[in-house]
Amino acid sequence: MPDPNLASMAKIARHDDVYPPAEDSFLLVDALSSLWNTSLRARKPSLCVEIGTGSGYVACSNALLARGHGCGEITTTRASDVNARAVETCAATLRAHGVDARACVVARGDLLEPHRDAIEARGGIDVLLFNPPYVVTPSEEVGRDGIASAWAGGVDGREVLDRLLPDVRDALAPGGIFLCVLIEQNKPREIMAMMEAMGLRSAIVSECRADEERLYVMRCDKPR
Ligand SMILES: C[S@@+](CC[C@H](N)C(=O)[O-])C[C@H]1O[C@@H](n2cnc3c(N)ncnc32)[C@H](O)[C@@H]1O
Repeated sequence: MPDPNLASMAKIARHDDVYPPAEDSFLLVDALSSLWNTSLRARKPSLCVEIGTGSGYVACSNALLARGHGCGEITTTRASDVNARAVETCAATLRAHGVDARACVVARGDLLEPHRDAIEARGGIDVLLFNPPYVVTPSEEVGRDGIASAWAGGVDGREVLDRLLPDVRDALAPGGIFLCVLIEQNKPREIMAMMEAMGLRSAIVSECRADEERLYVMRCDKPR
């Protein structure tokens, strides 16, 4: 059933060079909404970060979920993307939904770089979200300008994600949660074993079929 806190999410900004919300984005937001309905509203997260925000659909959903669960004054969402057009599009999506800069900040940059100061100031990230470029492509396509950066994942579709994974544990606050979209070709079981070896409990919390792909949301929890 759709989350009533997201009933007003109808004004997603678009740009030809920016990934529009698709099945993977919806699967991630469904998992996020379940998380708010279970543990997050009690935990009252201080810092939520979405890497690779694209249209801003996921980050804006998180800000609206925080507000809907009474955490509007407590939770800051930070969104970022390497694509400058995505940063502008995310800002337009936030404005269209009445989400101001106290509730959600958007910045341009690679992976966790734009969030380093906030991570330090807040003692880590409570919720980290990433729907990465996960499609298997030639390595030369990774990191190209514009819309190509939305999907090109290189070898195993993991070249961008594999640069983030070693930093996740330290970036999370005690009890922090990482939600990440994966497809079968990314070798989810191998990634979960890596995360477990780093001390993060890992599980697939939702999955669906979209066109030719099997999509998963992986959840990793840092112990308190
Ligand atoms: C599959 S799209 C997801 C967009 C949006 N989060 C959603 O779920 O609809 C991946 C996004 O990651 C961004 N991206 C790619 N490489 C990145 C990097 N190194 N750092 C930050 N963002 C990156 C892309 O520009 C793109 O917007």
